[in-house]
Amino acid sequence: MKRVIVYGGTGGIGAATARALRQRGYALHLAARDAGRLDALASELGETTVTAGDVLDPDFFAAVTDQAGEDLAGLVYAVGTINLRPLAKLTARDAETDFRINALGAFLAVQAAAKGLKAGAGDAGAGVVLFSTVAVAQGFAHHASVAMAKGAVEGLALSLAAELSPQIRVNVVAPSLTRTPLAAAITGSETLASGIAAMHALQRLGTPEDIAGLTGFLVSEEAAWITGQVIGVDGGRSALRTKG
Ligand SMILES: NC(=O)c1ccc[n+]([C@@H]2O[C@H](COP(=O)([O-])OP(=O)(O)OC[C@H]3O[C@@H](n4cnc5c(N)ncnc54)[C@H](OP(=O)(O)O)[C@@H]3O)[C@@H](O)[C@H]2O)c1
Repeated sequence: MKRVIVYGGTGGIGAATARALRQRGYALHLAARDAGRLDALASELGETTVTAGDVLDPDFFAAVTDQAGEDLAGLVYAVGTINLRPLAKLTARDAETDFRINALGAFLAVQAAAKGLKAGAGDAGAGVVLFSTVAVAQGFAHHASVAMAKGAVEGLALSLAAELSPQIRVNVVAPSLTRTPLAAAITGSETLASGIAAMHALQRLGTPEDIAGLTGFLVSEEAAWITGQVIGVDGGRSALRTKG
């Protein structure tokens, strides 16, 4: 059974993606900081190995790849930040941390796994999925740091899609606000959440399953002719205006 690495595999989107990938018949290797949550999810899912560590530690990526093995069908990098502040309140340290977690982490994850992904590619190619945000295609106030980091993810993905083809396909999923622990500071207020939901043509916020469906598809053989794409899963937020 071919294995897929999921960084952030215990998170809202990561865990939903892990479930979607198991349903598609993949074995998994999950990576995140909390060892207890990794072990609990691995026993629930079956055919799942784990590595606990921090993407801010450059040695973490080699450890993940070593423990995941050499025959990889894909890699999903579902670690990120939502650090929303006015420009005057953002520090260089904020911007650096957001860049390291969102963009440099994705770069190091793919770099460390490239050999195993090439080995496991098969006819359909191995599938890599990185995460951006709707706030790259649309300018939103207070998103300077995260939009800068996620813009880098989109540039990284296109460059890698060209360089690692034809064995490795690289695509990006760009969600709008989705109900996960990462977004809890925003979605925790129902007034705020319903106000933001109303700005979407589809009139609701995302669920982890909304995002996981496309992510599992992009990893899989069904996406054998899709690479270098940034795909919004965003209730219409990036492209549609229903009022005014
Ligand atoms: N939710 C949204 O509204 C939204 C919108 C646009 C884009 N996205 C993107 O979607 C992706 C998934 O986000 P999510 O909402 O599912 O986040 P989440 O629920 O907070 O999950 C984050 C996952 O990453 C792990 N993680 C966090 N920091 C880490 C670190 N320093 N080192 C290693 N692992 C770390 C967490 O586990 P531990 O805490 O145990 O490490 C968890 O497994 C991210 O790239 C995010 O930027 C989300």
